[in-house]
Amino acid sequence: MIIAVDGPTASGKGTIAKRLAAHFGVPCLDTGLLYRAVGRQVALNEGDPDNAADALAACAFPDALMEDEILRSEETGGLASRVSVHPGVRQALFERQRAFAETPGGAVLDGRDIGTVIAPDADVKLFITASVQERAKRRWLEMIAKNIDDEDEIPLSEIERDVVNRDARDINRKDAPLKAAPDAMIIDTTSFDADQAFETVLEAVQQALQKP
Ligand code: DC
Repeated sequence: MIIAVDGPTASGKGTIAKRLAAHFGVPCLDTGLLYRAVGRQVALNEGDPDNAADALAACAFPDALMEDEILRSEETGGLASRVSVHPGVRQALFERQRAFAETPGGAVLDGRDIGTVIAPDADVKLFITASVQERAKRRWLEMIAKNIDDEDEIPLSEIERDVVNRDARDINRKDAPLKAAPDAMIIDTTSFDADQAFETVLEAVQQALQKP
């Protein structure tokens, strides 16, 4: 059983994916972390994230980098979005994601192109979204809670601008842009808290799995 969870930045898809995986007892892959690791490695290499060769070279990042908390910062998220436009980077990360999707017993993957490119054969496809304002607020609160970036220096309006820019880059890139698969269930979580969002999604997934 493969469950694909796609959606824009800060839509809550990561939390939903982890909770679905725990519910069904299968592993979960946050594919955004792979792009974040590439973005971070470009910075460590003092390369240019907009340069295809620099971004491709950074795909050879060490596994330990995946554990680095800095991957979750706004800055690394921006770098990830920039390296993710290069087709070579997407290709280099494809096999790892596909192998995870084929885990015997099932898997949940969250990202931007899981239902469209990585696992078009997924049993259930979800596209989780929410308004720009709500997503910026969630990201801001998350940053304060984790104290990853210096929230005093990043006002909410700046996060909102970043969310809009990130959406534009993810939606408009030529290769595997952010979009709902034609057979995805689109769930807008703007007016839901985390528990309500998960309950709504779980119900939709259970119904979809019951269909012959
Ligand atoms: O989900 P996230 O914010 O951690 O993702 C960071 C960036 O990585 C996102 O802006 C675009 C890219 N990404 C992608 O292109 N494809 C994926 N499956 C996951 C993330």
